[in-house]
Amino acid sequence: MMDFHPFAVEQFLSEHEHGVRFNFSESGVHPMRYDELFRLAQIDTEALFATLIDYPQVNGFDGLREKIAALYPGAAPQNVLVTVGATEANTLAAAALIAPGDNMVRFRPTYEQLPGNALNLGHEVRVVDLVEERGWAVDTAALAAVVDDRTRIIHVVNPNNPTGQILSDGDRDAIVGAAQHSGAWIVADEVYSGTERNTDDPTPSFWGTHDRVIAINSMSKAYGLPGLRLGWLVVPEEIVDCAWRRHEYASIAASMFSMKLADAALAPVPRARLMERARGLIRRGFETLSEALAEHPSVFSVVPPQASAMSFVKFALPVTSDEFARRLLAEEDVLVIPGSKFGLDGHFRFSSALPDGHLREGLAHMNALVGRILAED
Ligand SMILES: Cc1ncc(COP(=O)(O)O)c(C=O)c1O
Repeated sequence: MMDFHPFAVEQFLSEHEHGVRFNFSESGVHPMRYDELFRLAQIDTEALFATLIDYPQVNGFDGLREKIAALYPGAAPQNVLVTVGATEANTLAAAALIAPGDNMVRFRPTYEQLPGNALNLGHEVRVVDLVEERGWAVDTAALAAVVDDRTRIIHVVNPNNPTGQILSDGDRDAIVGAAQHSGAWIVADEVYSGTERNTDDPTPSFWGTHDRVIAINSMSKAYGLPGLRLGWLVVPEEIVDCAWRRHEYASIAASMFSMKLADAALAPVPRARLMERARGLIRRGFETLSEALAEHPSVFSVVPPQASAMSFVKFALPVTSDEFARRLLAEEDVLVIPGSKFGLDGHFRFSSALPDGHLREGLAHMNALVGRILAED
């Protein structure tokens, strides 16, 4: 039997996130409540609750796919497949595109959902490092060296998880150039577009940069609605069937209830308000985190994330990232994700787009442990 590669980050979350007092391990903003969404999107709840609890249109109903397509210049509803979160979209992309003998290229550190699927299907995954000293820039020489004519996918998460960095124009061009040169597909996981800290303009999609692009997104991050479990792929028409046939195996369909709520949330006014809410939480949260990290300037450093609720914090303490996270949980009831889960020790991922009082209280607990570790040394 082939080796199975567990999804390290998600396994860590499943095992530890429930019941913890200060959960700073999530990647999204503090989620919205159903009643808040109903008000914000002016949803007619009587009509919503009269919906049959039935299987919906398997690829997503037409109106929803029209709204999604409108977010991608040149896309039409027939380019869109609605999935159970970006998670299913990533799984379908790996299954639909790669064949035996192909390889895929991924960056490190990143969210390993698509590469993990490819590994578990028995494919070769090549790794290109992001360079922290250059603001997590792509090592473009390494990229050029690993891409060849058997590279089927170049996988990008933009803005990235766990660093929150947005690819520079130069790095984007290098990725598109490598894909064009080799004939590879760019699979772009863009769930953090719309969560920028320094601009209200969402990070542009890779859609339209190359004729082989799969753009993936969902309601989970920029819209603060992860529990809808609703995402999508935007793909060239010749790939739709390939992904759709696998979607029937994986889930049949997302739920009708979620499709209806996503449809309401993606109307122009609610959509803008949801993104504004997410950006507000993200911007304030990072300021609060920065203040707390500044209490230990010789311990903490961070490349300020350009987007997302997450910071990938570097720390100088005589403990591994696993040990730091373990002690934070055991001694302070605080959960962060150790960098080891992203293949990079000496770091942890911290999510700060949370109600401010709770965030400050939890950060004080984190700094209390840092003080103790320094005193033990
Ligand atoms: C880059 C990235 N893609 C996909 C997902 C999963 O998204 P969804 O909730 O839409 O399944 C996450 C969740 O953390 C993520 O960080």
